[in-house]
Amino acid sequence: MINSSQIRDFFPSIDRVDAKNNKIIYLDGPGGTQVPIQVIEAISQYYIRSNANTHGEFITSKETDGIMDELRYKMSEFLGSDNPSTISIGQNMTSLNYSLARALSKKFNSGDEVVITELDHEANRGPWMVLEKAGVKLVEIKLLQNGGLDYEDFKSKINEKTVMVCMGMSSNALGTLNDFHSVRSFLPNNCLFLLDAVHYAPHFAINVSELGCDFLLCSAYKFYGPHVGFLYSRPGLLESLDTDRLVVQDQSAPFIIETGTLNHAACAGVSAAIEFIASLGEGDSLRSKLVDAYSKISVHEFALAKYLYDSLCALDKVNVIGQDFSNTKRTPTVSFVHSDYTPNEICKKLASSNICAWDGHFYALKAIQQLGLEKKGGVTRLGISVYNTKEEVERVVSVISNL
Ligand SMILES: Cc1ncc(COP(=O)(O)O)c(C=O)c1O
Repeated sequence: MINSSQIRDFFPSIDRVDAKNNKIIYLDGPGGTQVPIQVIEAISQYYIRSNANTHGEFITSKETDGIMDELRYKMSEFLGSDNPSTISIGQNMTSLNYSLARALSKKFNSGDEVVITELDHEANRGPWMVLEKAGVKLVEIKLLQNGGLDYEDFKSKINEKTVMVCMGMSSNALGTLNDFHSVRSFLPNNCLFLLDAVHYAPHFAINVSELGCDFLLCSAYKFYGPHVGFLYSRPGLLESLDTDRLVVQDQSAPFIIETGTLNHAACAGVSAAIEFIASLGEGDSLRSKLVDAYSKISVHEFALAKYLYDSLCALDKVNVIGQDFSNTKRTPTVSFVHSDYTPNEICKKLASSNICAWDGHFYALKAIQQLGLEKKGGVTRLGISVYNTKEEVERVVSVISNL
């Protein structure tokens, strides 16, 4: 079981209070979580001891090489890949996905079809528009009004022209957990399968081999780390692509899609974030600790999110958007609208009680449009993270019910 009070001690930012002495409550996790002290110290220690560029003969440069190798190893364990050469590092998910899309636009042919979904974040929609310049047709999977993808529509849109499917594992706007396993099962063998794991990675363990994906992207600032993005590519795939890169860049995977000098200090922080998550689990290897930790994290987060969902559903003026919590196929992200206040007004009211929450479309613009919510200011989104408690959820519900 997750011991929230012990975990909270690791997060210095949780101690903040406002002028009225209200303790801060972070329900803005889907936009980026807080970071534990281990991550902060790893970043500081990098600057205190090891700050240099890579591939030099001197101590700080060698240490930096070590930090980057260690991160690729830890990230491959984090994603269940067993191969550090499958892990490319970038500024964030969006820029890596753009680089990948540009490279694939030179591989695909006119008339090929690439599938995206209406539910996805723009970071897994916008980059694929570059393919249209190469004559590739983009096909969109419909979002149902209940917040789930239309899998009948999905199946019907896969055919012999489909060269790639790009979908999210879960929705950052509605908390929907997509049925990516079933999608994989009806794709033709030669169809590339890309998963956006940005909203999934903070809540569940990932195993790229089980997922059968060719590419998977995630971002460490959503799972207790700093701002660094990652691209997993199935072995052998990245090298076959004509990526935008300098002639001086290492031309092999995973480096072939990376550009310029990476943020080494932040990379040291990501390793510490992975270790932090692993420290919440038990096992005899990093991977087994991570898997165990995630099984505990998801139980803790689901229970709190279900409580939040049920409490909000009981309020007359609140309409919770998206799928219910009747089974555990749900991320702990709860979005709602209020009949008297706009999502932005709700967030201002929450902020005046020192509660951090986001309103709007969170770049999942198409989904919010399809639900008819764009002109109403989108939704208010409350996201549960590992450090949240039942008392915090109770306080939030009490503020909303007293509006
Ligand atoms: C589901 C999802 N995909 C992609 C992104 C973009 O990630 P990044 O900020 O690393 O580019 C986000 C960011 O909120 C997200 O929630």
